[in-house]
Amino acid sequence: MSLTGRELILGVTGSIAAYKAVYLLRELTALGAAVSVCLTEHAAAFVGPLTFRTLSGRPVLTNLFDPQSPEAVEHVALAERAHAILVAPATANLLAKAAHGIADDFLTTLLLAARSPVLIAPAMDGGMWAHPAVVENVATLRARGVTVLEPEAGPLASGLSGQGRFPEVPTIVAALLGALAPVRDLAGEHVLVTAGPTREPIDPVRYISNRSSGKMGYSLAAAALRRGARVTLVSGPTALTPPAGAVFVPVQTAEEMREAVLHHLASATIVIKAAAVADYRVRHVAPAKIKGKRDLALELTPNPDILAEVAARRTGAFVVGFAAETHDVAVHARAKLESKGIDALVANDVSQQGIGFEAEENEVLLLDRWGGTHALPRMAKTAVADAILGHIVALRAAAGKKTPA
Ligand code: CTP
Repeated sequence: MSLTGRELILGVTGSIAAYKAVYLLRELTALGAAVSVCLTEHAAAFVGPLTFRTLSGRPVLTNLFDPQSPEAVEHVALAERAHAILVAPATANLLAKAAHGIADDFLTTLLLAARSPVLIAPAMDGGMWAHPAVVENVATLRARGVTVLEPEAGPLASGLSGQGRFPEVPTIVAALLGALAPVRDLAGEHVLVTAGPTREPIDPVRYISNRSSGKMGYSLAAAALRRGARVTLVSGPTALTPPAGAVFVPVQTAEEMREAVLHHLASATIVIKAAAVADYRVRHVAPAKIKGKRDLALELTPNPDILAEVAARRTGAFVVGFAAETHDVAVHARAKLESKGIDALVANDVSQQGIGFEAEENEVLLLDRWGGTHALPRMAKTAVADAILGHIVALRAAAGKKTPA
């Protein structure tokens, strides 16, 4: 999952765990979120605004009544614009104020103006967390639809042990992802995705293929469905289950893939060619199983370049290719994007351990035909898929305003 295109407000209150909000912010921005940080006065005593400002790349909101702050009068607009407000860490004091509608600083005022999901990650002493007043405030907030995470058990800053520790960053991020309404920015689109390897037969039992697992393409198909698109998934043989809701077209060879892709091209508005198409096929496929242990020479002939053909034949679809490179990734990828005449290219360095072929994660460069190059951090393929789609949406929106480089 990714947070690309999401506007978040991260409220930080005066707990010793305020320093952990720095790690949380770093994770949120790495996932693509635009984060406005709002510090209470006490939080700023633990960690200064400069740290949050540097990591978020945005002004930090501290004092509602600071006449110098243009954001001060904008708190309602800011709260309405945000896709979620996350208060982490939250003190017992913040829980009490939020439960009773007190608005005496920027953060509590934002909470009253909020129109989007609110998540609160408390951190405090175990005895305070168990106090009937806090228990009651948490119950009030939950009854109102606020997600209040359970603090974790373990050693506390007080030297004691108990339930009051700030939840781990991945726990908070997972809760946030679950609370956010899905972006439906591909509603009305027809996304055509190719995935997996192709199999080029040698004889009835043997074939030439490659290590593609199909995970990247299947993740793209699933992410496009979540974002509201109609999806056609043309896939070579993989061990994966196609996402429910996609029109699934299984193929074996590059030639079959070409036929299926061209068949669906007319109605496609976005074409993403994540398949690892075999560049060659066997010229003379043996009609019966080849026998014997003698030397054998296979004559190979190039397969049609489906991507280049799609780019040449399309009528308005946005075409995205993939490139697996082992060195000088950006240079080779730029050349490939230009020679194939496509709009964007997703390049990954398959020489690196743990990413690309067969791996769960990927780390890619996104190049576009307007000269842009955008590096995505290493993430799960599902998150990469969302980030790629977010990028495609942004490129298409900007395309009208640009001329090719
Ligand atoms: N592709 C295609 N048809 C082919 C070969 C590749 O549509 N016959 C598409 C793939 O789906 C992918 C992109 O083209 O989107 C990869 O380009 P390609 O030139 O095949 O990359 P490599 O095989 O890595 O090329 P090279 O050997 O030049 O590095």
